[in-house]
Amino acid sequence: MELDITGLNEFLAPDELVRMGKQATQAARDLKNGKGAGAEFTGWHDWPITYNKREFGRLLKAAARIRRRSDAVVVIGIGGSYLGAKAAYEFLAHPFTGQIGGQRRKIALYFAGINLSADYHQALLDVLSEKEWSIIVISKSGTTTEPAIAFRIFRQALEARYGKRAPERITVVTDAHKGALRELARQEGYERFVVPDDIGGRFSVLTPVGLLPLAVAGVDVKAMMDGAGQARQDLLRPFRQNIALQYAALRQILYLRGKTTEILVGFEPRLLYVMEWWKQLFGESEGKEHKGIFPASAVFTADLHSLGQYIQEGRRDIFETVLAIERVKSRLKVPPTKENSDGLAYLENRRLAAINRTAMEGVRQAHVAGGVPNIRIVLPKADAYHLGYLFYFFEKACAVSGYLLGVNPFDQPGVEAYKSSMFRLLGKPGFE
Ligand code: PA5
Repeated sequence: MELDITGLNEFLAPDELVRMGKQATQAARDLKNGKGAGAEFTGWHDWPITYNKREFGRLLKAAARIRRRSDAVVVIGIGGSYLGAKAAYEFLAHPFTGQIGGQRRKIALYFAGINLSADYHQALLDVLSEKEWSIIVISKSGTTTEPAIAFRIFRQALEARYGKRAPERITVVTDAHKGALRELARQEGYERFVVPDDIGGRFSVLTPVGLLPLAVAGVDVKAMMDGAGQARQDLLRPFRQNIALQYAALRQILYLRGKTTEILVGFEPRLLYVMEWWKQLFGESEGKEHKGIFPASAVFTADLHSLGQYIQEGRRDIFETVLAIERVKSRLKVPPTKENSDGLAYLENRRLAAINRTAMEGVRQAHVAGGVPNIRIVLPKADAYHLGYLFYFFEKACAVSGYLLGVNPFDQPGVEAYKSSMFRLLGKPGFE
């Protein structure tokens, strides 16, 4: 993976990056040595090498079992217990059939408990009536309202359909020691996987939280872990060769210059939920104490026809980070025609992928000229290995970036406020 910062040339003072690099290096050292804020939640840092290989084997077996008996799996979870799996699934699956490359059999993943919409959940129940299905319910705390409600609804439907055999179709991912979900799993004998104590929700995609649903869908989760392992190793390097530290440092430099919104941009629609995952990672990690860069996202070229105007000429408090995929599979070309009535003769026989790449460069030049600093993260390929690399890269960059900002990137005290107010209105005991 590469970090291209030529789109920052006009915005950086000489030596500025070197100076911030010293702070980023110290932040990375604190992170690694468990000396920074929230050190008890930094288990993800070495996870790509420390993860329990026996548990991983059990996970693969459980996934194979679920695959054998299901056409569809309802994955229940929210926030960090949802977005990683959703991001990887959307990134790796065929956009129209949901097939994962190389897999003959398709298992659809449907996500539930991600909102409180009755229509959404009813529609899913309707679809399931024609399928063989199972449930994976994921909640570290085991008490989050949205997934807890969804689990009640789908468990009841599963029991109505499969009777005594329903428990075989339920797999739980939750805390090792506590929580209502853990208790229920124990009582009912559901197969159970653990979210490690020292890994918080939004840093958990490479644990069973993300890996179990993805293995069920047919993703090569071993390759994903290998990619993350390579990233862990690469991102221990000194600042000059360390793109996670550089990205974190650049964000902080731009933030101090008043660039308070970062737009993560993709030119491939498969990136849509990777960007949603990124928004959660950075938004929940950094947005505290009235500080932080607001993480936004856009899919180009579609959003050039909506947000493009604002980016070009609106408030100058934004910067763009483009997530580019170097090699795409399709060799689709613009076909020649005799009449050229659409005026596209100049593009005839040119690859769509090359046109997209040129659009990326054209947009960069226009936006930089309009005063929008541009960073480019280049991913060699859209596969499980490189996605694992990317996930780890962003996790490390986010942690270092949070430390540079002076916040604890691993807590989320602000999320409780809406819950208390909702519980009070719903009449939950203890919240009157
Ligand atoms: O990143 C986080 O910690 C949160 O977004 C959680 O993942 C989210 O609130 C869901 O929590 P839980 O897994 O406990 O249900």
